[in-house]
Amino acid sequence: MKIVVIGGTGLIGSKTVAILRQGGHEVVAASPNSGVNTITGEGVKEAVAGATVVIDLANSPSFEDKAVLEFFETAGRNLLPAEAAAGVRHHVALSIVGIDRSDNGYFRGKLAQEKLIVGSGLPYTIIRSTQFLEFLRAIADSSADGNVVRISPGLFQPIAADDVAANVAEVALAPPRKTIVEIAGPERAPFNEIVARYLKAVDDPREVVRDPEARYYGGRVEERSLVPLGEARLGHIGLDEWLRRSKARA
Ligand SMILES: NC(=O)c1ccc[n+]([C@@H]2O[C@H](COP(=O)([O-])OP(=O)(O)OC[C@H]3O[C@@H](n4cnc5c(N)ncnc54)[C@H](OP(=O)(O)O)[C@@H]3O)[C@@H](O)[C@H]2O)c1
Repeated sequence: MKIVVIGGTGLIGSKTVAILRQGGHEVVAASPNSGVNTITGEGVKEAVAGATVVIDLANSPSFEDKAVLEFFETAGRNLLPAEAAAGVRHHVALSIVGIDRSDNGYFRGKLAQEKLIVGSGLPYTIIRSTQFLEFLRAIADSSADGNVVRISPGLFQPIAADDVAANVAEVALAPPRKTIVEIAGPERAPFNEIVARYLKAVDDPREVVRDPEARYYGGRVEERSLVPLGEARLGHIGLDEWLRRSKARA
């Protein structure tokens, strides 16, 4: 079975490609570097020709509100009709838990991406994931003011990229669910506590301050803004295990 992974060179994309190739599938890791660009449309028709499944794991190079919205809207408008014309039988996309419950520019872009998928008529499964553990440093950096990192005490349940990729591969090989499925990490704790544990473990001297008013990429974080409200598939790798593996790899 031919499977195309758009963004197949990214953090989740490269891991998903490896899992699917190990399973013996013909996998195309598509990205601008390999001549497939969902923004210009270059190479899209050729890449999806003969594909049974397309997994969209691309991300916007810029996180600026307008750029993110434009990225996901343009990509959807180029990719989804090409898939429909090629007779693709399952479109899988990776989205984010809580994008309809917290208002920030990046989340608005992801909601627009989901809307285009649902309206496309393609058989689909949207996977909404919580934040990746690999994203903790970027979160700390974006919330830092000098040596102080202000983080909300709202609940947080980050997931390791390895667990995300395993779930994406499994979902892609199953029949389309025509709905949203949610995935999250095995541990749930206040956002500020997880970031503080992470910074301490990596010997980062910055101090984490619990701040209910602290924004996450511009959006307010209430107690349950960022965690699944209903049933979710849970990853196996918690923060301590992820740190142990990261240190072993370094
Ligand atoms: N970060 C989080 O905590 C989180 C949580 C839930 C969901 N997500 C979602 O997970 C997805 C994957 O994130 P990630 O961190 O794995 O992304 P990433 O590492 O930044 O990789 C992005 C991928 O997109 C490709 N790409 C960029 N522009 C493209 C274009 N015009 N056409 C085709 N491909 C393009 C890149 O190709 P090049 O390598 O050639 O640049 C790269 O392969 C994103 O959609 C994100 O919204 C993220």
